[in-house]
Formats: sequence, C-alpha cells, structure tokens
Amino acid sequence: MKIKKICCIGAGYVGGPTMAVIAQKCPDIKVTVVDMNANRIAAWNDENVENIPIYEPGLSDIVAEARGRNLFFSTNVDQAIEEADMIFISVNTPTKTYGVGKGKAADLKYIELCARQIARVAKTDKIVVEKSTLPVRTATAIKDILDHTGNGVKFQILSNPEFLAEGTAVPDLVAPDRVLIGGDTTPEGKEAIAKLVEVYANWVPQERILTTNVWSSELSKLTANAFLAQRVSSINAMSELCEKTGADVNEVARAIGMDTRIGSKFLKASVGFGGSCFQKDILNLVYIAQSYGLKEVADYWEQVIIMNDHQKRRFATNIIKTLYNTVSGKKIAFLGWAFKKDTNDTRESAAIYVADDLLAEQANIAVYDPKVKASQIQFDLKELGSRTDAENEVLVTVTDSVYDTCKEAHAIAILTEWDEFKTYDWQRIYDNMQKPAFVFDGRNLLDREALEKIGFVYQGIGK
Ligand code: NAD
Ligand code: UDX
Repeated sequence: MKIKKICCIGAGYVGGPTMAVIAQKCPDIKVTVVDMNANRIAAWNDENVENIPIYEPGLSDIVAEARGRNLFFSTNVDQAIEEADMIFISVNTPTKTYGVGKGKAADLKYIELCARQIARVAKTDKIVVEKSTLPVRTATAIKDILDHTGNGVKFQILSNPEFLAEGTAVPDLVAPDRVLIGGDTTPEGKEAIAKLVEVYANWVPQERILTTNVWSSELSKLTANAFLAQRVSSINAMSELCEKTGADVNEVARAIGMDTRIGSKFLKASVGFGGSCFQKDILNLVYIAQSYGLKEVADYWEQVIIMNDHQKRRFATNIIKTLYNTVSGKKIAFLGWAFKKDTNDTRESAAIYVADDLLAEQANIAVYDPKVKASQIQFDLKELGSRTDAENEVLVTVTDSVYDTCKEAHAIAILTEWDEFKTYDWQRIYDNMQKPAFVFDGRNLLDREALEKIGFVYQGIGK
C-alpha cells in the first residue's frame, strides 16, 4: 500500500519547508504539519502567505499552492499521529544545557516526548522517520519506547536526515544532491525504506536516492556537517595567515578550489560560521567520540569550533584595536544580523558574539538587517545573559533604514552577506559618517577599490 497520509511533528525551519515541498510534489498525499507552538502554527496558517514564520525565497509560493489542498498546519498532534501512515519527527535537538554532557551532547528530550506520544496514540502500524539530526544509535532508543506500548502496533524506524541549507531550502529540497534513507535490513525494514523511496521518487531521480543501514544514515548527517564546517574553519585559519603575509584569501581559495579534488564551494572566508546546525552537531560528534573513549577523534573535531570562536573574537578585537583601542560611546553600525543571507534565522549568528564583545567595551551598536526584527535582536542579546535587558536596549538600536543606521557612525561592520548591501549609495553613507570612516567587511562583500576611492578605510577578512 502506498503512503496516503503523512504527519510531521515540528513546524520549524526543516519541518515546514520539507513538508511544503512533499505536499507540492505529491498532491495525492495528505501532509499535516503539527507543532505544540500555537503561535507558529497560527503564522503558518496566516491568511497572508507572506506572514508564514520562516523566510525562504520561493517558500510562500509553494505554501500558497498546497495549503488547504493537501498541506495542513495544526496543533492537534494526537489526531495527526493517529491518521498518518508515516510520521516524520522534525523537532529541535539543541545542545544540552544541563546535567551529563552539558554544553556538548544533543538534548533528546523533545525526540523522546514525540516517541512517547506516538506510542500512546497510535492504533495502527506506522513508519516513523527521523528527520531531526540525531546522535548515531538514537533509533534504538526510539524503537525501545515504541516497542513497549503493549498495544500490538508495529513500528518501523527510518533515518532520513535533511541536508537543506537555510536561504536555499526550496532549491535544495526540489533538486537535492541526494536523499539519504537508512533503515533495518529485515524484510519489514526494507519494505518501509521502499515506501519512503516511493514518496521521494515523485520528483527525485532514483539514482539520487541512497539507502543505507540506520547507523550509517544517522552518522552521515553529523559527518556532512562536520566536513562542511571544517572547510569554513580551514579557510578562516588561512585568512589570519594571509593578513600577516600579504597573501589574499580570495586568491588562495580560488587557486586551491580549481583542484577538482578540493572543489571551489564552501571556501569563503568570513567572520565565522553561525546557524543552528554546525556548532551543535560538531559538539555532539565530539561528545559521542569522547563517550567511546576516542580522545584524538574528539580533539580533532573540537578544533573546528575553537577556530570558529577565535575568528569571531578576532573580528571584534580588530575593530576595537583599529578604532584607537576604544569603542566606548562610539557608534558602530552593523549591517546584517542573520547568520547568512536570505534567511531571518539568527541562531548562533556571528553578529551576536561580535556585538557582545563590542558591548563589553561600551560601544553603541546600531543594527540594520532586511529580514530580522528588532525583538529578535534583543532576544538574542538577552539569551547571552551578559547584561540587563535595559542596558541592551540603551546600547543597541535597530532601524529599518540603512542610512539612519550608518549616520554618524565611527565604523560599519558587515556581518551578513545580503546582496542589497552592494547596491547602496556608499558616497551618501560616507558623507554622513564620522571621519575616518571605517568599514570592517566580515564577508568580503563590498568593492574595496570603490570604497577606498570614496575615502573609507576598508578592511576585509584575509587581505
Ligand atoms: P526548529 O526549532 O525551527 O523547529 C522545531 C519545532 O519543533 C519547534 O517549532 C518546536 O515547537 C517543535 N516541537 C518540539 N517538540 C515538540 C513536540 N514534542 N511536539 C510538537 N512540536 C514540538 O528546529 P529546526 O531548525 O527545524 O530543526 C529541526 C531538526 O532538524 C534539528 O534536529 C536540526 O538539527 C535538524 N536540521 C536543521 C536544519 C536547518 O537548517 N535548520 C537543517 C538540517 C537539519
Ligand atoms: C548547514 C548545511 O550546509 C546543511 O547541509 C545542513 O542541512 C544544515 O547546516 P546552514 O547552516 O543552513 O546549512 O547554512 P550554510 O550555508 O551551511 O552556512 C552555515 C554558516 O557557514 C553560515 O554562517 C555561512 O555564512 C557560513 N559559511 C558558509 C562561510 O562562512 N563560508 C562558506 O564558504 C560557507
């Protein structure tokens, strides 16, 4: 029997876009995305499709097409579980902030809650799909909970990690490099794998659908993120050496990227990687390696994080040093707060940590980001716990005009590579700034020559 009804628990950055694309590509399957966060569900159901809670280019069109037809958003988790043949678990798996493994291990409490809810509610056989990124061997724990319900329902657990990147979620989902599905090697396991393959085969070429055992699939996701983050830390490490030696990191990246064994993608030096995945997943990998006693493996991967923290810190330190060793009372304009362009997501954004270091030196920060709201910026600073909300509100202002943000600033820091930053009237910005007018380009985004011609003192990364 084909899959007719899918439920996805978790209407976040992964659950929302992933299910929207499945619904668009499989009009015969009813897809219900559920979440315990009623505000989030209300936003997904907002009459004005531009108000859906996640900004991703192209996503609102897909939601507009499928919502109400075969795509539904609801807070009624029990009903959606009961109805579904296949249940995706796409809840958050943050780094643990308490107890054993604090600061490293993945917190699996939301996953376990889902498994227990499925066990309690399910009255018919289900295929349960791990969509969240999970430590290798989590499927055993889920299976253990599901197999002890005592109500005779049979469950198959699959691992189907998601590789989409934010900002490009729609193209990544519509034309993925690969879809990975891990399952049991038993006949029932193979049958469950085949059913999920059949769903994806509606739009993904068969040769791009890879099937493995569950453990390989779970570990491949952590490995992919570790390798990607390692590339960013590697080029960022070289950027510091470039600054000391007169080499240019863009030229170095281009030169090595033309070696087909290395490849040219993901070699942009930056103020440091952010986002909800890289740090969390590497810390999790480090924790897993440590728990198997693999010290060298753990230390190797931890260095990727250490390098990234260093890159964020040295960006802030350089601003302070260049501004004659004091930023106290000086206005620093931040262009960008999101962790990368084309998303409103700010989780672990480098901007937060750079701001924290500058605020510790009593700087005044004015922020402009085309997609991030002022309330989110204040929330991110509050989460740091470095100072009171009142202090954050006095020291950090947010405007929706880039020209106001930069007015009378001593320096501009580019934290996100939004395309629109390249198109501004930089002469106008310069005319209204304090002199010397500094630009610290944490994304090597702007045209150095043009800016220097105007009169800016420009500093990029790795140049
Ligand atoms: P998110 O925080 O945006 O969304 C998770 C949602 O799950 C939240 O809305 C939360 O309210 C809901 N939730 C949690 N427990 C629940 C429960 N018991 N019942 C109902 N709803 C519940 O997280 P995300 O960014 O979508 O990430 C989800 C998972 O996907 C994580 O494991 C993450 O590592 C992985 N992942 C994320 C990305 C990404 O780009 N964000 C990419 C690939 C994989
Ligand atoms: C990442 C993975 O790419 C994706 O496959 C996985 O599913 C989730 O985690 P995401 O975090 O959304 O996706 O964005 P990504 O494009 O990987 O960027 C992560 C961070 O690295 C951003 O802060 C980005 O600016 C930074 N980065 C990326 C660089 O600094 N240089 C680069 O060359 C690439």
